[in-house]
Amino acid sequence: MLGENPFAYQGPVAPDRLIDRRVELDGLQRAAANRVAIRLVGPRRFGKTSVLDAHLAAMRAVGHRAVRVDLSKVGTVSDVAARVTAAYAGLTRDPVGAVARWAGRLGVEIGVGPAKVVLGPAARQVTADDARAALLELLEAPATLHARDADLTVVCFDEFQDLLVADGGLDGLVRSVIQHHGRAASYVYAGSEPSMMRALFTDRERPFYGQARPLALPTLPIAEAVEDLERLLRDAGLEPGDAVPRILAFTDGHPQRTMLLAHHLYERLDAGSSAGDLAAEALADAMAETADAHQATWDGFSRLERIIAIGLADGLPPTSERLAAEHRVARSTLQTALARMLDAEQHVVRDDDRRVHLLDPLLREWLRRR
Ligand SMILES: Nc1ncnc2c1ncn2[C@@H]1O[C@H](COP(=O)(O)OP(=O)(O)O)[C@@H](O)[C@H]1O
Ligand SMILES: [Mg+2]
Repeated sequence: MLGENPFAYQGPVAPDRLIDRRVELDGLQRAAANRVAIRLVGPRRFGKTSVLDAHLAAMRAVGHRAVRVDLSKVGTVSDVAARVTAAYAGLTRDPVGAVARWAGRLGVEIGVGPAKVVLGPAARQVTADDARAALLELLEAPATLHARDADLTVVCFDEFQDLLVADGGLDGLVRSVIQHHGRAASYVYAGSEPSMMRALFTDRERPFYGQARPLALPTLPIAEAVEDLERLLRDAGLEPGDAVPRILAFTDGHPQRTMLLAHHLYERLDAGSSAGDLAAEALADAMAETADAHQATWDGFSRLERIIAIGLADGLPPTSERLAAEHRVARSTLQTALARMLDAEQHVVRDDDRRVHLLDPLLREWLRRR
C-alpha cells in the first residue's frame, strides 16, 4: 500500500503535525498579547520555522494579521526589501501603498496566496540606497494598517541573523522603524545561529540590545514523541514493534533527526518489512542519506575540532588528560577549542546537566562508525 509518509523532515511541519511545543506556543501568544518581542533561538532543524508557523496560525485563528518574513540567505538589501514586500503583500487583500509600489520595482508578484519573489533584471537595478529607502517605508506597514483598523499584526522574522549578511547596519534601520509600533505590532525574531543571535541581542553596542526576551527551543519530549509517532504508524495500519522508542533513545529527541528516522521506519514498514531490526534499518537508511553532509562537516573541522568530535563520539570527556596525551596536545589547548565550539553551538552543546555532547546524533554515529 502506498500511503503518504506522515513524517516530513525537510522544511517546516504543518501546525497540526507538531509534536508538543505547547509551552513555547503559549509563551509566544502571551508575548504577542502584551506586545513583548521574543527571540526564538535554537540550532538548525530544531523546529523554529514550524513553531513560527503554528504561532501564526493561532494568531490568525483569533483574527489577527500574522506574517512570517523569511530572511534566509538574503544576500543584498534588495533581497531583504523583496522578502519584506512578499510577506506584507499577503497581509491584506488591499496591500498598503508602499508594498504595492515596491512590489513592482522589486519583482514581487502579488496575487492570490503568498506572494512570489522573482528577482528580475529590474530588481537587480534597485540600488542599495533605494532598497534601504524601500525598507523604511515597507516596515511601516503594520502601523499603517493599525491606523486603519486598530488591529494587531504579528510579524515573525525568520533567520533574522541573515539580515546582517546583506548589510551589517540593517538591524539599526529595522529597529529605527519598528520601535515606534507600540500596540500596532508584535515581533518575533527567530534565528539559527545562536552566537550571531546573541551578538545581535546581547551586545550593548547593537540596536537590538535587550530588545527581545529569549525563548529557547529544546529537544522534543521523548515519551510524547514516542506516543505521537506510534499513533501515526498504527493509524496507517503499520506495527512498529519496539522501533519507535529505540529511535528516540538514539536521537534523544533531536526534532529533525527523529522525524528523519521515523520517515525511513515508515518506508520500511510500508514496503512490508516486519522481520529484522527495523530501528537499525531506519538508521542505516538515514546514515546513507546524510553521509555526504557529515563528510562535509568533518572536512570543515580543524584538527582540534576533530579530536574533540571523535572524543565525544567515543564517549570520552573532550578535555581529559587521556585525550590530550593520546593526541599530544595541551589540555588547555583542547579546552580553548571546546569553548569555541560550545560558543558557536553548531555542533557541540552543553545540556541541562552540564554534559557536553554532539548536537547531531547522526554525526555522532558517523564518527563512531569511522
Ligand atoms: N515539534 C516538532 N514535531 C515534529 N517534527 C518536528 C518538530 N520540530 C521540528 N520537527 C522536524 O524538524 C524539521 C525541521 O523543522 P524546521 O521548523 O524547518 O526547523 P528550523 O526552522 O529550526 O530549521 C521538520 O521538517 C520536522 O521533521
Ligand atoms: Mg527554519
